[in-house]
Amino acid sequence: MKDKSIFFSALLLLTSLLFSCQDSFTTNSPPPPVTVSDADLLALTAAPGFAFYKNAPDTLPFTLNGGGHNNSFIRVRFNAKAQSVLTDGGKLPVGGRFPDSALIVKDIYTAKGGTLLATAIMLRLPAAANADANGWVWGEYNSASASNPPAPASQKGSQCTACHSTTAASSPVSGDTGNRDYVRTFGLRP
Ligand code: HEC
Repeated sequence: MKDKSIFFSALLLLTSLLFSCQDSFTTNSPPPPVTVSDADLLALTAAPGFAFYKNAPDTLPFTLNGGGHNNSFIRVRFNAKAQSVLTDGGKLPVGGRFPDSALIVKDIYTAKGGTLLATAIMLRLPAAANADANGWVWGEYNSASASNPPAPASQKGSQCTACHSTTAASSPVSGDTGNRDYVRTFGLRP
């Protein structure tokens, strides 16, 4: 009798193990991570629904000379997903985090009102194979072309994240209150 119950318990354990394994192979296994290509990342910047920072469409001088783009002018814009968390007077609140699929674009111009020189992009997509440790996919492209990018998405922001981690204490710009979720505009601009 005792042997029988041990046998049945063992059988039960085995079947439940088998089912749980099968379960994890069929329903619970995460989908393989996607890699965001340069062409895809750049194409996302042409979608509708963007709004400029504080809704100001003017090209503004880049805050830092020596910050990658000397003497250039920029416009920063947010897709609808990113706009949804700009609740602190047009900024992400301190300690806030952008949701998945939030997209932030810095269009870089040679002169005020001049031609587009380059496009720098941050896409929040932690599930992507080429996201950095904080879930951002980074890329920078010349003249809206995905070929020969100065910073391909495969680099996982290796040229970008150190500068974008700048805090109030480490910033060379006086009055900079530091990055918010690796975005610098909020700390540098009113
Ligand atoms: C040397 C510093 C520095 C480096 C390197 C740098 N950035 Fe930035 N980035 C800035 C600053 C400063 C701003 C804010 C713009 C302003 O107010 O002038 C900015 C703004 C941006 C924005 C708009 C959102 C925000 O943070 O305000 C994006 C998108 C962006 N950068 C992408 C990139 C990408 C992609 C790279 C790497 C290829 C990169 N940046 C490298 C300093 C840097």
